[in-house]
Amino acid sequence: MEKIVSLCKRRGFIFQSSEIYGGLASTWDYGPLGSELKRNLKEVWWRTNVYGRDDIEGLDASILMRPETWMASGHISNFEDTLVDCKGCKKRFKVEHVTGKKCPECGAELTEARQFNLMLKTHLGPIEDSTSLTYLRPETAQGIFVNFLNVATTMRKKTPFGIAQIGKSFRNEVTTGNLTFRSREFEQMEIEFFVKPGTDEEWYEKWVEERFSWYVKYGIKKENLRKRVHAKDELAHYAKACTDIEYQFPFGWSELEGIANRTDFDLKQHSRLSGKDLQYFDEESKEHYIPYVIEPSGGVDRSILAFLTDSYREEKVKDEKRVSLAIHKKLAPIKVAILPLLRNRPEIVSLARNIAADLRSDLRVMYDDTASIGRLYRRQDEIGTPYCVTVDVDSLTDKKVTVRDRDTMLQDRIDVTNLKAYLMEKFI
Ligand code: GAP
Repeated sequence: MEKIVSLCKRRGFIFQSSEIYGGLASTWDYGPLGSELKRNLKEVWWRTNVYGRDDIEGLDASILMRPETWMASGHISNFEDTLVDCKGCKKRFKVEHVTGKKCPECGAELTEARQFNLMLKTHLGPIEDSTSLTYLRPETAQGIFVNFLNVATTMRKKTPFGIAQIGKSFRNEVTTGNLTFRSREFEQMEIEFFVKPGTDEEWYEKWVEERFSWYVKYGIKKENLRKRVHAKDELAHYAKACTDIEYQFPFGWSELEGIANRTDFDLKQHSRLSGKDLQYFDEESKEHYIPYVIEPSGGVDRSILAFLTDSYREEKVKDEKRVSLAIHKKLAPIKVAILPLLRNRPEIVSLARNIAADLRSDLRVMYDDTASIGRLYRRQDEIGTPYCVTVDVDSLTDKKVTVRDRDTMLQDRIDVTNLKAYLMEKFI
């Protein structure tokens, strides 16, 4: 884990939020490479689930919602941790993390247990009283539920169909640590998939398989993934069944994504509290019903952590340590690095810069001439760049460049005129 944390900081993937002020606990900033990786990950998820199917539509709902939403969803009454405070060092612990009545850190006495709601509060408008109180959403799901009929009607959707959304969520987490794994501000990628009651169990099984194989497809080793079925007593108040896809992080097996059968709980609750009839009319069976919902809910930040960890490699090459990120090409922050072999030869630099400019319209390119070629390769390996293009003295006469593959380290000599097509082919 230390190696991943160090790589993230050193290479500009992830920085602590407000670092110059000492950092803000459990909030993170994605640097130049991290923000590219994040965009790529979200793009791949969206392409799989929205572009790749004809039964899912996208949505981008607002973070702020009417507080009734959270009454209906159960977050105001149920989204809580039970905590105890230490009277000595003032640290706060989840009750399940302490045994007895003494502080596990300093041994002082603990307070009685009390409930602590995990939602972050804010006020809308100029007056800060209970009437203006609202919350930063703790899950993106509710924005989907309240728009269920809007999407179904405007897009003429018939069950089974889903709504996908990627966006920020906020939780005032008590247990934090392990970089971005449990943050107070994070992003979720969620689908609410609406099905006819009675077909829900079949769809639930399908989604568990679908989501598991997505992580494998984009490069996570199968042996580092597992499915964990929730026991009845750990199910959330809305769920009839839930399976977590867990990843073997350096700190142990932990949840990457949860696939839940949310039944008709949320739509029923919103119908009840809003007074709006959220029933769906099934034209085939001529029935009115509240659909059941299967919810694959993943975390962008946790996925990034898993993809980084899983692709991290250390090996010996010619007696030297080589660190590389063997990350899937579609996720790699930089697709191609352009490296002139001699930075003091203007013709070489000019050719290299022209190549970079030409590729830039289609690929995320990095031009680098600030070190020796060995160093430049090492830098790109470490950030997971799949291809490095070197421009050398011979390039000036034979009009060819060397393309080096990150994983095999094999090199191909390619005509400059064919280079773009050659590289584009690799990213299809
Ligand atoms: N709508 C269902 C829901 O929100 P959840 O299991 O609480 O379910 C779903 O969250 C996913 O969101 C998790 O599997 C995880 O990937 C991500 N997630 C939840 N809390 C998080 C946190 N504090 N920091 C980072 N990711 C988090």
